[in-house]
Amino acid sequence: MLSRVDVNELPTPALVVHASTLGRNLATMARTHPGARLRPHVKAHKCTALAHMQRNFHPGFTCATVRETVGLARVGLGDDLLLANEVVDPARLAELASLTSLGARVTIAVDSTVTIDAAAAAGLRECVIDVNVGMPRCGCALEDAGRLADHARRSGLGVRGVMGYEGHLVLVDDRSLRESAVEGAMRLLLDAHDAVGGELVTAGGTGTSDVNTWATEIQAGSYALMDTKYATLGLPFELALCVVATVVSVSAGGTVASGGWAVSDAGLKSFGMDHGDPAIEDAIVWACSDEHTIFSAHTTRTPRVGDRIRMWPAHIDPTVAYHERMYVVDDTDTVIDEWSVDLRGW
Ligand SMILES: Cc1ncc(COP(=O)(O)O)c(C=O)c1O
Repeated sequence: MLSRVDVNELPTPALVVHASTLGRNLATMARTHPGARLRPHVKAHKCTALAHMQRNFHPGFTCATVRETVGLARVGLGDDLLLANEVVDPARLAELASLTSLGARVTIAVDSTVTIDAAAAAGLRECVIDVNVGMPRCGCALEDAGRLADHARRSGLGVRGVMGYEGHLVLVDDRSLRESAVEGAMRLLLDAHDAVGGELVTAGGTGTSDVNTWATEIQAGSYALMDTKYATLGLPFELALCVVATVVSVSAGGTVASGGWAVSDAGLKSFGMDHGDPAIEDAIVWACSDEHTIFSAHTTRTPRVGDRIRMWPAHIDPTVAYHERMYVVDDTDTVIDEWSVDLRGW
């Protein structure tokens, strides 16, 4: 924990969370999706300190990795954990099963007899049947869902319901198109649910949280910190996380008008780049390389070597996963806390 450090004194690149914006995002989601209507996905922040804040509003969590699931259970956040991913590694499955000794409830996604048998053999107790609702990733075909549920029950697993992540629709920018496409995907999931039974129809992400009224719970994660890609959808969440970087070189004046450029010390090893370059206010970003971002300022004010700048990631999940810690700042840009990104890795 740092005392009275200004954000501009941090070693860069530094992952910086704006506390009041984060607080607003959490409260906004909790208003529209109170309690168990949201199962926050921790993959988007990989941080137990932030998960503790979400636990004030929501009883359960969604995880993408065994590390995330184990990490939440170890800090007492294991009341209802859904590992929304297929796992076949017996050692990792056994580690998940052992979390009952910490009082944790772990439910795992399965989409084949192999994943069901592996979960049952390791001693896991509960699963959801993962159904493909249109995104070519994990998930069984609709017509196999009932058979897999029967197989799971015969193998001794409780079947809590169905999961179907409509990830191919979370970035459809027209809201009404997004809504009708999500309805199609969820009709499929509800058909699977008819065959499977159970109390859960779990689906959704930040981008469909405003339109998916068919799932019993939504697995959104990015809403807490947000990114520039999701910010284009007009959702009621604000950018709460940036990377603070230092300008380390300026050429030919550094501005668009001067035909120059400047270079920051945060490059593609500081940002998940699959959704595009990070944004810098009042500047054009030209390119990122491993440790650098090259940009030109729009203003006539020349960027100077040593300036601090804020860079906004286009994809929050992989960005956070590159960093060991997040610095939390208040409205005066004073660092008020330091959070470990303690759920990184696998
Ligand atoms: C299974 C699953 N559920 C939900 C999400 C939603 O996350 P987000 O809030 O980033 O849209 C994801 C993201 O990749 C996911 O893989």
